[in-house]
Amino acid sequence: MSAITISAIKADVGGFVGHSAIHPELAAEATRQVTLAIEHGLLVDGTVNACGDDVNLVMTHRHGVDAEPIHRFAWDTFVELTRVAKRLHLYGAGQDLLADAFSGNVRGAGPGVAEVEILERPSEPFIVFAADKTSPGAWNLPLYEMFCDPFNTAGLVIDAHMHDGFTLEVHDLIDHRRAFFSCPEDIYDLLAYIGTTGRFVIKHVFRRDNLDEPVAVTSTSRLSLIAGRYVGKDDPIMIVRCQSGLPAVGEALEPFARPHYVSGWMRGSHNGPLMPCALDDAHPSRFDGPPRVVAMGFQLADGRLVGPRDMLGDVSFDRARRQALEMADHMRRNGPFEPGRLPMEDMEYTTMPEVAERVHDRWEPVAEPATAQAPAAGALAGGAAFQAPAAGARD
Ligand code: F6R
Ligand code: MG
Ligand code: MG
Repeated sequence: MSAITISAIKADVGGFVGHSAIHPELAAEATRQVTLAIEHGLLVDGTVNACGDDVNLVMTHRHGVDAEPIHRFAWDTFVELTRVAKRLHLYGAGQDLLADAFSGNVRGAGPGVAEVEILERPSEPFIVFAADKTSPGAWNLPLYEMFCDPFNTAGLVIDAHMHDGFTLEVHDLIDHRRAFFSCPEDIYDLLAYIGTTGRFVIKHVFRRDNLDEPVAVTSTSRLSLIAGRYVGKDDPIMIVRCQSGLPAVGEALEPFARPHYVSGWMRGSHNGPLMPCALDDAHPSRFDGPPRVVAMGFQLADGRLVGPRDMLGDVSFDRARRQALEMADHMRRNGPFEPGRLPMEDMEYTTMPEVAERVHDRWEPVAEPATAQAPAAGALAGGAAFQAPAAGARD
């Protein structure tokens, strides 16, 4: 049994129309590149899909995680797609290629990456989830439910192979550190962090007895933190392996039957429901959304991808879709008011600082009663909390 790596790498290299979808010519060119890479033996297999304005490459190969040739291939493919996007004047052509040139790994250079090297089981079902108009923290709640919540995952109670629970690796995107939480005993500690979805994200999930081979992996990039300014969002991707001592396919899908609110809707600045949808419906439109999630189901056959099956297109998610649309109505009622709009701290990573800069001089001190504690300078709108972004910052 030889190791096989599944790499899901995605980027927004130009939208059609606006930020709503990809153009068919992008999908065709990406498919051509992937086919060539299979013919040349770089990839064992590969497939191209999209969620909103993001192109998703799902690839299998024998090079391991973070392999230079695979990352170079993904980068070169996105560069080729950018050429197509520029020719068609698609919106935001090349927006996720933050680096001027490839330097060994696409992580930190713009594209989102979720990769896992595994020993393929006799039957290896897995799901690649992709979402648009949100960020990697959007996976925290569903991953928690899949791997830690017996009300979602019956196997945690009634499958002896799952009864001991799972270990979750959480990354702090601000302080660049990580911690491991073994569940169920650590779930309260875990929840204390992963509820802050803009900062703490679940990177890997492991079986408790094997911390070498993840059973789930997510992309964790935050483009604004990489670029130091607003450059669009970090529409995330993740791989979840299923069955035989792991969440059943239906247990991995179940969290999406109860839509939850995520951040990233319109201008990366609003909260909205994560609406499960079919691949053919993954085209955010209303208010550039609502945020969407698709699920591509695969079986591996000696490294080859049998699939995808469109898992969230099923009729059993119709009610969740309707519910998400109702939740969208509720949030839209608030317009530019929180919690429809993101809280002030999170707006620092959007185009808001530019606006704050314009009215900065209008704010003047107000005398406080002697006993009152004055807020720190710049703690409120228009103060130093908002630094103007570099000119021309767009998403
Ligand atoms: C993009 C997104 C969109 C844009 C919006 C404004 O991922 O969330 O809602 O932020 O369409 O785009 P610009 O500023 O490019 O006109
Ligand atoms: Mg876009
Ligand atoms: Mg997108």
